[in-house]
Amino acid sequence: MRLKNKVAIVTGAASGFGEGIAKRFAKEGAQVLVADINLDGAESVASEINKDGGNAIAFGVDVSDSSQTKEMIDRSCEAFGKMDILIQNAAIGMRPTPLIETSEEEFDALFKINVKSVYLGAVHSVPIFRKQKTPGVIINTISTAAIRPRPGLTAYNASKGSLVTMTKGLSLELASDNIRVNGLCPVAGDTAMLDGFLGDGPKDESYNRFVSTVPLGRLCKPRDMANAALYLASDEADFITGVMLEVDGGRCV
Ligand SMILES: NC(=O)c1ccc[n+]([C@@H]2O[C@H](COP(=O)([O-])OP(=O)(O)OC[C@H]3O[C@@H](n4cnc5c(N)ncnc54)[C@H](O)[C@@H]3O)[C@@H](O)[C@H]2O)c1
Repeated sequence: MRLKNKVAIVTGAASGFGEGIAKRFAKEGAQVLVADINLDGAESVASEINKDGGNAIAFGVDVSDSSQTKEMIDRSCEAFGKMDILIQNAAIGMRPTPLIETSEEEFDALFKINVKSVYLGAVHSVPIFRKQKTPGVIINTISTAAIRPRPGLTAYNASKGSLVTMTKGLSLELASDNIRVNGLCPVAGDTAMLDGFLGDGPKDESYNRFVSTVPLGRLCKPRDMANAALYLASDEADFITGVMLEVDGGRCV
């Protein structure tokens, strides 16, 4: 019960890494707002958590929209009385495309959903943390793509690279409020997003090529991200801010 009495919002929690984080946090005692643009998926994750003895509610949100992001945070405070942890994990990926062939629409969507959302989450959560006068935790799901980019995914990689700078900058701006801001950098993971990254060729071949770049010999699983997020969100990490924790089996070494 490492998150007993904590309230967490997890975005992009209808599937993949976010689902793994939401379920693990609930097991560790947190009350969880399962937030996603896919409301049906969020409802099914929240209901699984509740059936398993946890306490979760689902919320439909487009994290690139300011008023919806504010409503998400307000909903958590209404339902659970406060918020302690904001996991900003929702994002979109892309199919391999050289940067100069990436459309402006796709480029704008990547930056709106992957980058602007993290700014909006901070804009709307920090006043609540400050009002509560309790320690706050913001964890942004970034990617090894930000640190060791693969060719063909440059627009996505750049969106994640910008989160490294935003996370480090925010960690400094918010340290005096005792709000810790950290990033998680998973290597390619076995989630719905992977299919796009693998591209149009034979899937097995691209999958094995990805695996061959990971020294520990496998891709990232939701439980790997859940374990790392749990540490950073818990009081055990109360002196840790501004780090980019690679959850990558050694890919970035
Ligand atoms: N899977 C990978 O290979 C990989 C590698 C490195 C980093 N990541 C990052 O991990 C995070 C989670 O991705 P995942 O791999 O679990 O993929 P996923 O597709 O399973 O999960 C992403 C979730 O985000 C939600 N989402 C998308 N746009 C949204 C929006 N505008 N508002 C709210 N929710 C929205 C989706 O509905 C989905 O449930 C993302 O930030 C992704 O960039 C993934």
